[in-house]
Amino acid sequence: MKSYNIAVIPGDGTGPEVIREGIKVLDAVASCSGITLNFHYYDFGGERYVRTGETLPDGAIEELRKYDAIYLGAIGHPDVKPGILEKGILLSLRFELDQYINLRPVKLYPGVECPIKNKRPEDIDFVVVRENTEGLYAGAGGVLKKGTPDEVAIQESINTRKGVERCIRFAFEYCKKRDKQNKLTLCGKTNVLTFAFDLWERTFHEVAREYPEIKTDYAHVDAVTMWFLKNPEWFDVIVTDNMFGDIITDLGAMIQGGMGIAAGGNINPEGVSMFEPIGGSAPKYTGRNLVNPLAAICAGAMMLEQLGENKAAILIERAVIEATSRYLKSLAAGQMGYRTSEVGDLVAKFVNETGID
Ligand code: IPM
Ligand code: MN
Repeated sequence: MKSYNIAVIPGDGTGPEVIREGIKVLDAVASCSGITLNFHYYDFGGERYVRTGETLPDGAIEELRKYDAIYLGAIGHPDVKPGILEKGILLSLRFELDQYINLRPVKLYPGVECPIKNKRPEDIDFVVVRENTEGLYAGAGGVLKKGTPDEVAIQESINTRKGVERCIRFAFEYCKKRDKQNKLTLCGKTNVLTFAFDLWERTFHEVAREYPEIKTDYAHVDAVTMWFLKNPEWFDVIVTDNMFGDIITDLGAMIQGGMGIAAGGNINPEGVSMFEPIGGSAPKYTGRNLVNPLAAICAGAMMLEQLGENKAAILIERAVIEATSRYLKSLAAGQMGYRTSEVGDLVAKFVNETGID
């Protein structure tokens, strides 16, 4: 019997309440698929920081390296200045664990209301492969003469051949394995960012030669935002840098029905990966049992897939589709027709009823 050790970081705001439902569903899947999931909880987040002044304690990264995966709720606290928890916890985990891919599926499930007129589930089904350790997120730059009229602020985008190439390779492999349209689109800004995206474009074409079966395409990031709304069916897999990936995946989340359903994986294919709902801590809903836990539940499915438990992952996805297509009135917090915990109960029940053959 396969057994996995999972580090759980429920984090801030609504993180703990959605993670609780995710664990409920993962436990249901584990018991009917004969796998064992051992969850170990960590209290990293804003509350701990406010109490102790510590983001990630000494030794935390080394300890987390020993797990099979990390399941994260949300990081962000209204009393903490923006940047401290993000850099001190979320980005540190991504960087230190070298989770160089941020994988974000954008999939409209049956029964989910789409804000774009006349688009159906078959039209919105693509995946964004976002580089996750470099670009503008690397923290390069600095400030001179701060607070004076002569202030200079520099924030540089770091793009290494190695970082770009491993991300692009991952995207080609992923596109091939996915085997849908077999089309990979590079999203960049070659008309303005002529250093960084020249490297991306050259690397993209070089790697493409090894994948003759994959069609390649290029689009500027501004055009990508336009086509997400106009022709989302054009996309299969998109590869892009960290900053553009951050921005377009929020738009992607909206066209798939909102933050209530959007999940992501921070992947280190050779190491420890971390899975999270991408919506954040939603402070105004904290503790009210109103937010949608489906994003956290879908993040759990992505985690099982990464662990190689494909059947278990598909079982969760089917149960989620059952919930969206026949039960939930909306995916929005407070408008689902169910409380957070009831959505978890519902999905866990469908998992148990279906089981694995
Ligand atoms: C995300 C978030 C993070 C990011 C923030 C919280 C640092 O927006 O996961 O998309 O920018 O990567
Ligand atoms: Mn984001």
